[in-house]
Amino acid sequence: MGNGGAVLRCAVFASGGGSNFQALIDRKNAGDLHVEFALLISNSSKAYACERARQNGIPAVHLSEKQFETFEAFSTRLMDLLDEYKVDLIILAGYMKKLPCELISKYRMKILNIHPALLPAFGGKGMYGKNVHQAVLDYGAKVSGVTVHFVDEEYDQGPVILQRTVPVLDNDDAETLAARVLTLEHDSYWRAVEAVAGGNVHIEGRRVAGEV
Ligand code: GRF
Repeated sequence: MGNGGAVLRCAVFASGGGSNFQALIDRKNAGDLHVEFALLISNSSKAYACERARQNGIPAVHLSEKQFETFEAFSTRLMDLLDEYKVDLIILAGYMKKLPCELISKYRMKILNIHPALLPAFGGKGMYGKNVHQAVLDYGAKVSGVTVHFVDEEYDQGPVILQRTVPVLDNDDAETLAARVLTLEHDSYWRAVEAVAGGNVHIEGRRVAGEV
């Protein structure tokens, strides 16, 4: 997946606070992450992620299917936007909306997502935010963690790039577990992005091999 040494241009998609987006920006500023943030796309103009983009001189675009008559029209605009900004890699960072199939197909193995649990457990429909951590606690799992994976047509099921664990403690509630996982997310996403952007991983079927 090497790109001849050019720095990859990333679009970050976020629906909420964007603390993962911020952690990526911080790692870039620290010289650990070698990508360009071409733009931030959010389905919500009120998302704090948009403010983070502005504060860091990254174009923020509010784009939602609600602005269009059809999902197809939304999809076309989204694809055009990614072309306009010459985007190589898409980073989902708390993006809560469905991606158009044509986007997934055009950017195959070029879309990354971070999930706050160890997939394939505690993923899929309804598994977002506090629900994930509550499900981990309700199940009685002893570890949870972070999964960074490529995005394909099946929700939360694309090839895994990185997984790291945290313990589940006896006195955890969804909030304390979420906080422990989020801290690990912030130290994890940039590593996966750097490995993919640097061409340090290759894909064999479902397996992502290489150094992350
Ligand atoms: C994170 O927990 C991430 O794993 C999930 O959405 C959350 C986004 O949080 N996909 P933030 O907006 O980056 O703070």
